[in-house]
Amino acid sequence: MPAFTHALQPLPVPPLQPLRLPGLAQAAVLRLDLVDPLLTGNKPYKLHGFLQRAAKAGAEGLISLGGAHSNHLHALAAAGARYGFQTVGLLRGEPKDTPTVQALLGFGMGLHWLGYGGYRQRHSPGFWAPWRARYPRLYPVPEGGGGEAGQEGCRLLVAQALAQLPAVGWDRFDAWWLAAGTGTTAVGIARYDSRPVFAAMAVPPAHGVEATVAGSAVHLVQAARGGFGRVDPALLAFVEQCPLPVEPLYTGKALLALLAHPLREQRVLFVHTGGVRPCAGGHRP
Ligand SMILES: Cc1ncc(COP(=O)(O)O)c(C=O)c1O
Repeated sequence: MPAFTHALQPLPVPPLQPLRLPGLAQAAVLRLDLVDPLLTGNKPYKLHGFLQRAAKAGAEGLISLGGAHSNHLHALAAAGARYGFQTVGLLRGEPKDTPTVQALLGFGMGLHWLGYGGYRQRHSPGFWAPWRARYPRLYPVPEGGGGEAGQEGCRLLVAQALAQLPAVGWDRFDAWWLAAGTGTTAVGIARYDSRPVFAAMAVPPAHGVEATVAGSAVHLVQAARGGFGRVDPALLAFVEQCPLPVEPLYTGKALLALLAHPLREQRVLFVHTGGVRPCAGGHRP
């Protein structure tokens, strides 16, 4: 049976719910965090586009890159374990034992540690050639599930959200709001809906998001609060008492940024991009 037959089944529908927080006039949240305990958040959507391309190319698995806390590699490895296709992860830095690395190994992902210098080469033209030669039957997925294929997977996300507007009593809304790491999900949404998309950046400027969103209808909002992965007492207190389960690095920062933005007075559809997973030990792109 072709490797991706089961993985390409339609994704479950994430509920759209009212989002009531002091300071927000009218908001709803698309709970991508609820679709599946393992393949959670925006990851299965971004992955979907790659799975389609990999299936078309006759590949037997996926190979991708990330750090030792990568949510993206976690989702990719979990998908491989569940649907029975091979996965290989190319990791940043020297071998490390983190809960995510343990999970990747548990899912059966093959790991290669590239060092820091080797990982920095990932955008250079010759980077993939030796890995393609070593794993000719694996389809390469860029870091964070970025690129056009990742954006295409967001078509379904938009359709699922729009179909549920009546569930929150809406016939229209003013804007989308979500956390951004690479900006792929935000650009994907903007591809399939004409409303403005506000991307609350979990990374500081000049991490490549500006280039990803260039030419799209995405508005960038700085939300990194001192750097990617940085937390502060106000953020942690907000995450702790927030009625919506959020983690500090993406969704917590994105919601706090919304509460401080003039758009909070309008009708906003917040996309919960996930990241809250048990034993993650960190939440990274
Ligand atoms: C929880 C969470 N939210 C948001 C993002 C950012 O998504 P994107 O890279 O598509 O901007 C990530 C990373 O993929 C993430 O793990």
